[in-house]
Amino acid sequence: MTIATTSPLPLPPGTMGLPLIGETIGFIRDPQFARKRQAQHGSLFKTHILGRPTACFCGPEANEFLLSSHADSFSWRGGWPGTFKELLGESLFLQEGAEHQRNRRLLMPAFHGRALEGYFSVMRAIAQTYLLKWEQQTQLTWFLELKKFTFEVASVLLLGTAPGEQLDELSSWFTDLTNGLFALPVRWGPTPYGRALRGRDRLLHYIENAIEERRAVLADPNASQPPTDVLTLLLQTEDEDGNRLSQEEIKVQSLLMLFAGHETTTSLLTSMAMVLAQNPQVLAQARAEQFNLVQQQGGDPTQALTLDQMPQMPYLDRVLKEAERMFPPVGGGFREVIKPVEFNGYRVPVGWLALYRIEAAHLDERCYSQPGSFDPDRFSPERAEQKRYDYSLVAFGGGPRVCLGMAFAKLEMKIMMALLLRDYQWAIAPNQNLTLDPVPTLSPVDGLKVTFSRL
Ligand code: HEM
Repeated sequence: MTIATTSPLPLPPGTMGLPLIGETIGFIRDPQFARKRQAQHGSLFKTHILGRPTACFCGPEANEFLLSSHADSFSWRGGWPGTFKELLGESLFLQEGAEHQRNRRLLMPAFHGRALEGYFSVMRAIAQTYLLKWEQQTQLTWFLELKKFTFEVASVLLLGTAPGEQLDELSSWFTDLTNGLFALPVRWGPTPYGRALRGRDRLLHYIENAIEERRAVLADPNASQPPTDVLTLLLQTEDEDGNRLSQEEIKVQSLLMLFAGHETTTSLLTSMAMVLAQNPQVLAQARAEQFNLVQQQGGDPTQALTLDQMPQMPYLDRVLKEAERMFPPVGGGFREVIKPVEFNGYRVPVGWLALYRIEAAHLDERCYSQPGSFDPDRFSPERAEQKRYDYSLVAFGGGPRVCLGMAFAKLEMKIMMALLLRDYQWAIAPNQNLTLDPVPTLSPVDGLKVTFSRL
């Protein structure tokens, strides 16, 4: 890597580890890897991981620097391995500058406001189906079940699947695809990468057919209402300059959304279910809020959860935020340094990887009082601890590239949690490992085994 800077500042403190592999093994295997180095070196340290010298940015000021004030010194595209580029195509994760802005503007309406309102009843119906199924099972490994739920929501709303239809097949193609993301890029048939390429092609073909069906409905004046889903909206969206997404663009962007949105949401739902079971007082308060809403509707339990109730759950919102703070599904974000960077008295050369670590701000005592304790009221209007520092709550990233699906994910999680709180109880089964494994997204090692029943 070339060092394109004349800065007199030193490189960040830290060690580069062994020749070639650097500190990659510790980074992957030791959950405390970054915490230990941050404790020793502070908010910026260097290491060598995944074959490249890397600067780790920690804390709210570092987040603001990388995500916002100096975002143009960092490239997203250069932060992803080559396998991503081939398997996830030319989609938002890999785009920069004007191209990224154009595509984000075109994708945005499908993930906000009126569009989300349209998804509400689909999400609620799928959630209810799963709750009824779990009620029959009584014992669950909940992470796996929640993963099926979020996958179904994503395939119905993002890929245009009919509820319940072809899910096992789609899910196995998707698993093949994700298994290839960190595999050696050996393109031969039976290798993980070969299978990943096949999974990708099948998914893209599937989405193409779903697009054709929607185009036909939209073009036919006598056809019934087109489905309320992301694909239909993306086919119709046009920006003020008359730009539209092409069919190829819609295909790869939809695939990316499926990748970006489903394991992350599963992870946070699982953590929330776990932490509520461990904190009965919080659970009771969150339930009381739901019972009040049912009472206000005349106490009729058959009255479904309604869209207009969603903004009336301030306590559940706090629980969600606190779960987001303590259990961020994604550990951080990688970038490539594309302009010489100076931060906190150190320089980071062009060509290095940069990693912002999400938990660093979430566990920073300057930002949050007693950050190790689960305390949703820290987000009450009176305490509002997230306002002490900008960029102190970044589970969904921040700045101009903040998570595009944040409102979608929050709606989905809130619907599932509200329905759970109204009608169900669960307890963590004994003799299981609840240690949280951070890779690929945070989840309990044994998948959170629970007993589950109606209240
Ligand atoms: C709990 C659920 C979710 C979490 C915690 C999460 C987290 C994140 C984070 C941390 C980033 C920024 C990464 C970085 O800065 O390197 C991000 C970006 C992104 N997320 Fe999410 N995400 C979630 C759900 C979703 C969903 C449901 C979708 C789509 C349906 C989605 C689509 C995206 C996209 C497209 C980006 C890239 C935005 C851009 O580059 O402009 N995410 N997400």
